[in-house]
Amino acid sequence: MLLDQTKLPRIQVEMNITSIPMLVDAIQRLCVRGAPALGCAAAYGMVLGVVDTTKPEQWIQELRATGKLIDAARPTAVNLGVGVAQMLAVGERLAARVVAQGQTPGSAESPASSGVDVDVWTAQLLDAAIAFHQADANSCLAIAENALQLMPDGSTVLTHCNAGALATGGLGTALAPLHLGHSRGLHFEVFADETRPLRQGARLTAWELARHGLTVSVLPDSAAASLLASGKVDLIVVGSDRIAANGDVANKIGTFPLAVMAERFGVPVYVLAPATTIDPYCLTGADIPIEQRNAEEIYGEDGAREGVGVFNPAFDVTPAALVTHIVTDHGIFQAHGENLAAWQIYVTGLKS
Ligand code: MRU
Repeated sequence: MLLDQTKLPRIQVEMNITSIPMLVDAIQRLCVRGAPALGCAAAYGMVLGVVDTTKPEQWIQELRATGKLIDAARPTAVNLGVGVAQMLAVGERLAARVVAQGQTPGSAESPASSGVDVDVWTAQLLDAAIAFHQADANSCLAIAENALQLMPDGSTVLTHCNAGALATGGLGTALAPLHLGHSRGLHFEVFADETRPLRQGARLTAWELARHGLTVSVLPDSAAASLLASGKVDLIVVGSDRIAANGDVANKIGTFPLAVMAERFGVPVYVLAPATTIDPYCLTGADIPIEQRNAEEIYGEDGAREGVGVFNPAFDVTPAALVTHIVTDHGIFQAHGENLAAWQIYVTGLKS
């Protein structure tokens, strides 16, 4: 069951996802979106892919095929692939046990005669998906606690896109300390960039924060420089879709110019993300695949214009040097300056 985020904030519609093509379509249309939420959707999707399967060989093959389809749905958020990989690892372990016991997966035997009940595997896979989702919720809380150390009561905060509960399995990443702090009686004033072209800030962040009682104002992305120049903003918080080993950060298009402006006006930029968003195998931001989206998102209701091209990358890469701190569920890091070594040790430790 997914909340269709394309319809927010006008209406709340739940989608009952019953097939992998339906899930892939929901991911590509951004019905479910935000890196950690994509990881959770991927994990549950892996269960969906095998739920009707009865034979062991078919089960593991279906699981591998499902993983390929989900993994290819969107390229930038590494969490999508992490959700797939973790479920696949669970599935491969279950299947390998059959081989170890001398039963060949895929033999013509029925599940009953081979002694394998794949429904038990599917139930175990579902347990693993629920645990993955719960781990993400726990990460959100840990990120919130860590980030609150950098966010004094009364801070005015600027954010971009939506990195809240809608984008994760829990409270959010960039919005998590705002939610947690607010629940503890802290006061924050929040400015949310509209986030062109799909307006995740205006539609989702504003809706999410306002319905939880936080003070939030929306601004067009192009007004961010004026807002920063006014001196009103104490700090910027954003999420991420993939963080490279050198600390370069891929996030929603418009994050990079925000970080450039923040440097100009001396405003700190905090990137809040779970460890699952760090890709230790991606050496620099240049290695992060950036999704290009269609022209209709730019033209909107005006319709496409003949002979006019469109450049519509969904994400950009902010160089590590422009990010004041990267806050994860494991602590507060800096991928430059005298704290670089601690970051490098941390990232190396994330290699599986
Ligand atoms: O295209 P989207 O809406 O999936 O992009 C989402 C973002 O860029 C978020 O900032 C990022 O995933 C962090 S979400 C906790």
